[in-house]
Amino acid sequence: MFKQFDKCYGIDLGTSNTVIFEKGKGIVLNEPSVVAFHHDTGELLAAGSEAQSMIGRSPAHVEITYPLKNGVIANFDKTSIMLKYFIKKIQGRPSFFRGSQIYISVPCGITNVQKRAIEETIIHKGGKKAIVVEEPLAAALGAGLRLDEPIGHLVLDIGGGTCQVAVLSLGGIVASHTINRAGLSIDRDIMDYVKRQYNMEIGERTAEFIKTQIGTASTTTDERTLDIRGRDLVNGLPRSIRLVSSEIYMVINDFLVTLIDAIRATLELCPPELAGDVMEQGILLCGGGALLEGIADRIRAETGVAVHIADQPLECTALGTGMMLGAYKSKIKPVSQIDTAAEDTAV
Ligand SMILES: Nc1ncnc2c1ncn2[C@@H]1O[C@H](COP(=O)(O)OP(=O)(O)OP(=O)(O)O)[C@@H](O)[C@H]1O
Ligand SMILES: [Mg+2]
Repeated sequence: MFKQFDKCYGIDLGTSNTVIFEKGKGIVLNEPSVVAFHHDTGELLAAGSEAQSMIGRSPAHVEITYPLKNGVIANFDKTSIMLKYFIKKIQGRPSFFRGSQIYISVPCGITNVQKRAIEETIIHKGGKKAIVVEEPLAAALGAGLRLDEPIGHLVLDIGGGTCQVAVLSLGGIVASHTINRAGLSIDRDIMDYVKRQYNMEIGERTAEFIKTQIGTASTTTDERTLDIRGRDLVNGLPRSIRLVSSEIYMVINDFLVTLIDAIRATLELCPPELAGDVMEQGILLCGGGALLEGIADRIRAETGVAVHIADQPLECTALGTGMMLGAYKSKIKPVSQIDTAAEDTAV
């Protein structure tokens, strides 16, 4: 039988995490989208969780970056190197995407030039066919929604660099809203707060830890405390403070107000029949931000719509791109696709 592709991959190339699905295997990689380079030689030192563990702890010659910003590629070379590292980790050899079919998720609302650039990053590095698909569609599919029916669904994806609100029907996006504030901006807000309130500097990983341990979107949850360490800005010495969940709630609240405004704005844009469907079906919450304590209740209280958290909020986009790899016959169409016979360009 004619063998069309060597391998088929679904990729969620996120600002915070890269998740890769391989047809026939399932999720084969879930790593932070981080790379560490030698500042002088440009040599790759580490990528993924290994690079992330160096954040805030590395000597001056180590440069650590997130090559994606707000869901789109900010540095193409570094993104390519990171993907190549991940593929080598999966395949055990540096063949990159040679001869593979790739479905890759992108934030909704990005320009055609940005989409093309993502596809070409994949094709240039050896992929035989790259197809970009809008993230909320992939996330909804991966979370188990049937999208080929004429029923409206509202998907809210709270990631690291973007929050996307989208109303879907008949396999397409009817209305959407993207805000460039999400998990990473909450971390920065927590860092700023600790600096302002306690005259203390903390690292971004500590800020994320605070968010995941005592961060909350609700005022009614029991007060929790967390002891954290940082550097005193007055005398420069290490210091420890105790934070309580209610103060972190106050820091996160500003972001939540913006998020809820975006949900309302999206509902206002969609036709009344679909708004009615959303009332009935509820909101599907996915992305890492869905794990913030109390967020479903808060959105439910503010919008009057039921909220369901996806079973695997951090993986559902990659699962959805994987489901699009030929197995799922439906009206859902990828955004665009690019073909190439260039099978010899793998690096
Ligand atoms: N328990 C938790 N509470 C709050 N936030 C969390 C929790 N667990 C993970 N997160 C946050 O989720 C974010 C990562 O989510 P996700 O992997 O969906 O983002 P991404 O897909 O990489 O980003 P984007 O879709 O914006 O490009 C991080 O900011 C992380 O801190
Ligand atoms: Mg995402």
